[in-house]
Amino acid sequence: MARKKITVVGAGHVGATAALWLATKELGDVVLLDIVEGVPQGKSLDLMETAPIEDFDSNVKGTNDYKDTAGSDVVIITAGIPRKPGMSRSDLINTNVGILKTVVEGIVKHSPNAIILVVTNPLDVMVYAAWKFSGLPANRIMGLSGALDGSRMRSFIAMELGVSMEDVHAMVIGGHADEMVPLKRYATVSGVPITQLLSPEKIDAIMARTKKAGGEIVGLLKTGSAYYAPSAAVSEMAEAILKDKKRVIPCAAYCDGQYGVKGIFIGVPAMLGSNGVEKILEIELDSDEKKEFMGSVAAIKGLIEELKIGG
Ligand code: LAC
Repeated sequence: MARKKITVVGAGHVGATAALWLATKELGDVVLLDIVEGVPQGKSLDLMETAPIEDFDSNVKGTNDYKDTAGSDVVIITAGIPRKPGMSRSDLINTNVGILKTVVEGIVKHSPNAIILVVTNPLDVMVYAAWKFSGLPANRIMGLSGALDGSRMRSFIAMELGVSMEDVHAMVIGGHADEMVPLKRYATVSGVPITQLLSPEKIDAIMARTKKAGGEIVGLLKTGSAYYAPSAAVSEMAEAILKDKKRVIPCAAYCDGQYGVKGIFIGVPAMLGSNGVEKILEIELDSDEKKEFMGSVAAIKGLIEELKIGG
């Protein structure tokens, strides 16, 4: 069986760490692309020199040329500037949309059949922009949100209870912004709802921390944003697609009437397989959850208006 090919655009912390996860899991050969000369080449060579220790045979190639990305099955876009303390993800919009346009055009030219995963912030709007720039069917474009936000919520629940991370499940939907919607009713420890294991105050605190978790890391790092969990989460999505696993992973997916939303990308539970977003699961939301979700929808629509790249 021919190896899969995965391109990671942006050789910063998120991109390079994603390349590490993808290679160590042998999900395919990896091309790491960046505009800065030498950096993707250097990081890729460093990763190749890791292979004998970690026992992987994925090739990792660094490049500044889109030609090397030709025929990619999955493309992960991390290019863009990250947040600094005090910035919201939406402060990045103008700079990052310009970067994204160049990247998406370069990618689609050489890999017309790729599935594109966007990590660049402000996330939900950048996925929308990538879709517009690409001309691809909406099922082939999605963005990293719930896989990361849900993992953060799971880690907070596990740390609070002192139980294995493995046994904790949690779902976060809505935009990848402070308006995200952690769903406490669907969070469980081995199937047991957390509402039976934690006080309402503790649960509220975990939900509040989840919403601000990206900013918490930015505040600590001071010079950039998180990268271990974001790169692991997007690699998990890539794995689901490359192995056609049909995993249910919330991500920013195109809604065409689901949850009463039409024409935008927002975090919803999605089934991921070789065709990208193969299905959106419409789960039951109570009135508070619906209200919060619609708040996210409004925030995303407001940012799309600002973009002025057409509806
Ligand atoms: C975060 C960035 C990746 O949430 O959006 O850390």
